[in-house]
Amino acid sequence: MAKILVTGGLGYIGSHTVVELQQNGYEVVIVDNLSNSEIKVLDGIEAITGIRPHFEQLDICDDKAFQVCLTKHNGIDAVIHFAASKAVGESVEKSLDYYRNNVYGLIQLLTLMRKNDIKHIIFSSSCTVYGQAEQLPIDETAPRQTATSPYGNTKQMCEDIIRDAIISYHDFNAILLRYFNPIGAHPSAMIGELPKGVPNNLVPYITQTAAGLRKELSVFGDDYNTPDGSAIRDYIYVVDLAKAHVKAMQRLLSGSNKSDCEIFNLGTGSGVSVLELVNTFMEATGVNLPYKIVGRRAGDIEQVWADSSYAEKELGWTAKTPLAEVLNSAWNWEKKVRNIQ
Ligand code: NAD
Ligand code: UD1
Repeated sequence: MAKILVTGGLGYIGSHTVVELQQNGYEVVIVDNLSNSEIKVLDGIEAITGIRPHFEQLDICDDKAFQVCLTKHNGIDAVIHFAASKAVGESVEKSLDYYRNNVYGLIQLLTLMRKNDIKHIIFSSSCTVYGQAEQLPIDETAPRQTATSPYGNTKQMCEDIIRDAIISYHDFNAILLRYFNPIGAHPSAMIGELPKGVPNNLVPYITQTAAGLRKELSVFGDDYNTPDGSAIRDYIYVVDLAKAHVKAMQRLLSGSNKSDCEIFNLGTGSGVSVLELVNTFMEATGVNLPYKIVGRRAGDIEQVWADSSYAEKELGWTAKTPLAEVLNSAWNWEKKVRNIQ
């Protein structure tokens, strides 16, 4: 079975994807510098799959260490590239750090892939590249809009760098996966999201509030042009998202991709408002969630959800896990992390 290098494989989406890869028979080599993850995630992956993936702690910007790793684990067939910094607000404060880690990191990776004759890459992109699209749902032909943060800009730049590298060097091929809003945790509660400090994202803030770590959730805005006034997103279960990577990998390795650089939107196809999500959380878990309405968050867009029919048609993939089940998985993970019965 093929050997896959997973950069950032101890992170939130990476760890769930490693589980799915191993459960589908792939051999996995993880590289991660632990800048936003913990080494114990390896134990979680092993507990779920019965297999401890190969792991090398290194920074992908360190080309010497990276080459040593590729020599040690020679015979890599393909890469899934998750390693990146992802906090939108922080990227405004520390833009050069973001360009270095996300853009320079990708350039190092592609350079080493060429040197080591690795031809296939799956890249973690984001629906942020679409901004506030004019038409909903958003399909892959929707135009990208000017990025509103350095983070968003790195995703656009990385997509372009991959496209250009394919043109320059011919023998590469890539799948760019544009994720909508990944949420939830593995049903085993052995792995999940581990945000550092006060969470920026909605679902970790909700579960931390439910666990008593935060006083109340602030709902950012109820004056949007949406049915209940709160903003709408397409929340996709991280395990469904992870399974899409396996489908994409099968496609690349079997050569059934239709072009050298394919793009897939990964979402559920349904938009859910903040207030709907809060209510679904309370109904699904039976936990009361204190919240208050506050003003809009700067930079937020009003509504976005995916048209994922291209992924359904070409990858044979859909995200069908019900929201209540997904929110329960997030809550079970929070309870495990906080030792709540
Ligand atoms: P994460 O922070 O949980 O995982 C990223 C992992 O990469 C972490 O384990 C971190 O330690 C590692 N890492 C970062 N820089 C590194 C470097 N230079 N060398 C080696 N390891 C490095 O993030 P995630 O939520 O799992 O996101 C994975 C990818 O998906 C990222 O590229 C992110 O931009 C993208 N994405 C995430 C979301 C989301 O909502 N989580 C949405 C769209 C796109
Ligand atoms: C954010 C990023 C996006 C990134 C994604 C995943 C911005 C502008 N966008 O998306 O680029 O890909 O995270 O990391 O930061 N909300 C509240 N209260 C909270 C937190 C969030 O009401 O405490 C609302 C937000 O206003 C938004 C929704 O919940 O309407 C989802 O927010 P969030 O989880 O942060 O994701 P995005 O903003 O969609």
